[in-house]
Amino acid sequence: MLKKIGLIGGGQIGGVLAAEIATRRLAREVAMVDVKGPDVAKGKCLDIAEGTPVIMADVDLEGSKAYDVLKGSEFVINTAGVPRTVRPDGTYPSREELLATNLKITDAVADGLKKNCPKAFIISVANPLDAIVYRLYKKLGAAKSRIVGMAGVLDSSRYRYFVAKAAGVSVENVEALVLGGHGDDMVPIRSCCRIAGMPVEEFIDGPTLDAIEARTRKAGGEVVGLLGSGSAFVSPAWSALQMLEAIAFDKKKILAVCTLLEGEYGVEGLFVGVPALLGAGGVEKVIEVKLTAGEKAALKKSVTSVAKTCAEVDAVN
Ligand code: APR
Repeated sequence: MLKKIGLIGGGQIGGVLAAEIATRRLAREVAMVDVKGPDVAKGKCLDIAEGTPVIMADVDLEGSKAYDVLKGSEFVINTAGVPRTVRPDGTYPSREELLATNLKITDAVADGLKKNCPKAFIISVANPLDAIVYRLYKKLGAAKSRIVGMAGVLDSSRYRYFVAKAAGVSVENVEALVLGGHGDDMVPIRSCCRIAGMPVEEFIDGPTLDAIEARTRKAGGEVVGLLGSGSAFVSPAWSALQMLEAIAFDKKKILAVCTLLEGEYGVEGLFVGVPALLGAGGVEKVIEVKLTAGEKAALKKSVTSVAKTCAEVDAVN
């Protein structure tokens, strides 16, 4: 059990995170900070705390509008920022369109982290994912192994779910990787998709896989469109916690994570989704998986999109 986990943002994802941490007994203390008034973080924490006798969990939850509540956190999960939401005309923005708003919020987050828990492992979930992690890293000057973005676990989970349903097999049987940026040109890696260790093509035909991969790339938007307000929040929370558990319990688990690349995959200085080994040291190793020519080209395109958004980040002091 960890001593303390900090949560930045007490909205939809933050709420599921706090409840799950209590249910799983992951930490003795949970701290949540949110600027929304009167005091949404305090309210969320009180709600969950009042239920802990029912689930028999000795977890202390403290919410606040002030960042110093995070002091002593070994891990911090950042979900501060506006989500995508359906517009009155039924359309919804891309994740990149959230940048202007969420960049300002991220700078406040970086400030709070720097003052209160500069040594914590950071898992960031706010969108546009790759650019927000990049900004946090630049502002914090943290070790690259200790700051990661959560996107690939969720995107891979969506791919796995669609494959399991199409093949009529357990989700437990499906392994898959989605790499690149967390945008609509993310890259489902078919050559790495296995059903009980066998190539996915032995179970599902090419056109069906094409459709599954197209759906995977837009899966976040599909949920936004259906919810009518806000974006997916349960699956992102579970995904972030899978990463936290891999690090906290030194699992040496290979997951698709958004991490700083310094030459791997031919990428320099950007945070991009790739397979990496997570253990007690955080991101202990980036795994360079063999890709087909088509997958390489798709990854390059996705990286170009990430680079474009990060250039916009760099233009703002
Ligand atoms: N510090 C702390 N919290 C903040 C700050 C800040 N400076 N600015 C905003 N917040 C809070 C909001 O008040 C809100 O309660 O962040 C919370 C975000 O919660 P939701 O709006 O419910 O959004 P959620 O669905 O949780 O998604 C959060 O993750 O997946 C991404 O695109 C999504 O960027 C979005 C983020």
